[in-house]
Amino acid sequence: MTKSSAPGKIILFGEHAVVYGRPALAVPVTQVHVDVDISDSAHTGIWIDASDVDLHAELNTLPSDHPIASVINNLFFLSHASPFPNLEIKISSSVPVASGLGSGAAVTVALTRALAAHLDYSMTDEDVNAFTYEIEKLHHGTPSGIDNTVVTYARPVYFVKGQPLETFKVGEPFTIVIADTGIPAPTKESVGDVRRLWLNDRSRWETVFDKIGEISFTARRAIEAGKCELLGELMNENHVLLQEMTVSSPDLDRLVEAARKAGASGAKLSGGGRGGNMIALVKPEMAEPVSLSLQEAGAKNTITTQIS
Ligand code: PMV
Repeated sequence: MTKSSAPGKIILFGEHAVVYGRPALAVPVTQVHVDVDISDSAHTGIWIDASDVDLHAELNTLPSDHPIASVINNLFFLSHASPFPNLEIKISSSVPVASGLGSGAAVTVALTRALAAHLDYSMTDEDVNAFTYEIEKLHHGTPSGIDNTVVTYARPVYFVKGQPLETFKVGEPFTIVIADTGIPAPTKESVGDVRRLWLNDRSRWETVFDKIGEISFTARRAIEAGKCELLGELMNENHVLLQEMTVSSPDLDRLVEAARKAGASGAKLSGGGRGGNMIALVKPEMAEPVSLSLQEAGAKNTITTQIS
């Protein structure tokens, strides 16, 4: 049997602007993860069991552009697997789908590593990252590549599209509360809407993207210098720019407000927006009261994570 696991992720700063070449910061979230177990099967075929997304199917019954089918078919092709082995592939996930926590990338990374190991096909992290990026295009259309990068390397990343991997040091650990609106929102749609805005008025949106890029740059410096108290205000500023971009929603705004009222130093949506998750920067002793207030304000789930 071969196994692999991949974490979820959050974007701290810079979503959407990152699609247009500005820097963004993302960190892995190990409290949620995708686990893949692959074993040889006594039954003919490749049997996929992903009960968290209600998928129980034989490979050939899936559409060829299904991301899981694409991973498997492409790896068979790359590894020259012949004849195709009979396999049972079990995928379990605690990463909520379409909610900005990188579920698609986590499934692909864990499945790719487990299947490559099972087929004795050697892949470096760079290979896994590049392969996952191609699969991400099926989920997102025009992804920047930030999700596959942070999930593959499972390290904090300062991401600029098309540039080599840059990680960053965390001078002083800081605490983030993540809250889920419970509303799934496909990233492809919000990314497409931002593209339409940009096509209609490039100079306006380039200025907004520049401001977000500066926020990401300043936030990285603050994190490295251990001046995390500066991050709250930067989150608030980033959220206003995301609202202007129309990717927030009443539910996200309500949770952002609730977190601030309950004592968070700052808060913003995280990921594609319109639904999914928001994040709040808190002092460690405030994590519990802020989580409770978020739940009272309608959050379906909260996670407290320390970035270190
Ligand atoms: O997958 P999500 O929802 O975390 O969104 C990714 C971040 C975006 O900047 C909105 C899109 C992208 O490809 O970078």
